[in-house]
Amino acid sequence: MQDNLTLSIIKPDAVARHITGKINEMIEGAGFSIVAQKLIRITKEQAQRFYDVHKDKPFYDDLCNYISSGAVVVQVLKKENAIADYRKLMGATNPEKAEEGTIRKKYAISIDQNSVHGSDAEDTARREISFFFSETELVGC
Ligand code: CMP
Repeated sequence: MQDNLTLSIIKPDAVARHITGKINEMIEGAGFSIVAQKLIRITKEQAQRFYDVHKDKPFYDDLCNYISSGAVVVQVLKKENAIADYRKLMGATNPEKAEEGTIRKKYAISIDQNSVHGSDAEDTARREISFFFSETELVGC
């Protein structure tokens, strides 16, 4: 696994509004290559494991219910400095605080329905990518 990869999830609010193409346009326009991508439905049990790091937070249950409430697009993005640059492109977790030109400023509905997720560190990215993808599914890496 390489340091220049990050895991992105296009969340149920965005998939339901048919804006995955628009979000991918922003992602590719910012210089990322989408090296793996699939449309899936995350189960509640998978959501609880994926967001395990937040299990003591008050929003954990709502978060797990939400991410398993509809189809999502999981994808692996490649770029130099992918993790930090994708977090910059996503914008602040709360869209009210997100900067102009970011995905969340443009498309997010609320802090819960905030359209996208991105890994926050190298070890997290490694864990999150292997949660959804096998090594053979990472094209061009
Ligand atoms: P995400 O990047 O997917 O990581 C955890 C998610 O929890 C986050 O986006 C938000 O959608 C959600 N969340 C809800 N409330 C909060 C909060 N107070 N702080 C951080 N994340 C929150």
